[in-house]
Amino acid sequence: MTDWRQGFKGTDVNTESRVQNRKPRLLKMLVIVGLLLLCVIPLTVGLGVGLAKRHSHRSTPETPHDSEALGRPSLWAPQVGVSWQIVLSQSVKVDAGSTMITPNVDVYVLDLFDTKRETIDRLRRVGKNVVCYFSAGSWEDWREDASDYHTADLGNNLDGWAGERWVNVSAESVRSVMRNRIKLAAEKGCDGIDPDNVDGYENNNGLRLSSQDAVNFVKFLADEARKYNIATGLKNAGYIIHKVLDSVHFSVNEQCVEFSECKTFAPFIKAGKPVFHIEYPEGAPSVSSSERTQICSATGAATGTDKFSTVLKKMNLDGWVQYCTGQSVTTPTA
Ligand SMILES: *[C@@H]1O[C@H](CO)[C@@H](O)[C@H](O)[C@H]1NC(C)=O
Repeated sequence: MTDWRQGFKGTDVNTESRVQNRKPRLLKMLVIVGLLLLCVIPLTVGLGVGLAKRHSHRSTPETPHDSEALGRPSLWAPQVGVSWQIVLSQSVKVDAGSTMITPNVDVYVLDLFDTKRETIDRLRRVGKNVVCYFSAGSWEDWREDASDYHTADLGNNLDGWAGERWVNVSAESVRSVMRNRIKLAAEKGCDGIDPDNVDGYENNNGLRLSSQDAVNFVKFLADEARKYNIATGLKNAGYIIHKVLDSVHFSVNEQCVEFSECKTFAPFIKAGKPVFHIEYPEGAPSVSSSERTQICSATGAATGTDKFSTVLKKMNLDGWVQYCTGQSVTTPTA
């Protein structure tokens, strides 16, 4: 009781002093409100200008929560026969103010995580389209979002790829990671995505994955990307092409010549969609002209490659590339 009364008394005293101080306090308040307004008005105007800018330009929003402003103004639709380069094991180096990048091709496929938004901006400024690669069907233990997967959704190890496991492509934890990655692609200004390893059903995955699971997964990825007007590629997965061709915008194929199965991917060309085709000739970067000629011949093992966008690469997908013209170059990497 005593304590309470003392406390009350104390409060009373404070109230008195507050009353006495009312006038200066009011002044102080007015000064604070005035200062706040001074800060808020330019901020609001700045934000308005920023928003207007964001809508008039391609993308690159500052606020990741504003999903309406994220992404391209319209869907990217790559054409049959576009030229390209793919570099995944290193980060390509594009200097500020660069007017050119080597090689001077239409499309660059780069790693979603390892490529800075700044690099993508610079590439787009010199007229390139950028496709962002990530592994959709495998868990990679070194990625920043690796702990977002539920352990129950991870299957067998991938043969020959240390630190990677097949994932249950129907599971919510996996879908949620994919949504975040595609949003990241939009934030970084990617024009397309190249979701790898969607063909777990063809492998010893330990999760009883079916080709229908893959179809559903690819459609899910494409729908998600579509929200940002980002195009989606089908990586390999020849068996499900007829079921997803309408949903995806290009093919990324590895080694169809090596496996004599290029005809499988030709429906893309017929549908007006490019096939980004990679072969890994033994001995690259020293590829004999006879081997190159065979790969580029559209006959024999290469039957079905008409109008494919073919590149010869080393397995590690570094900056080196050779084209069917014989031209070989190395993209600068950091
Ligand atoms: C994969 O995820 C789906 C959806 O949650 C579930 O129905 C299925 O049982 C899972 N498969 C395995 C092998 O855990």
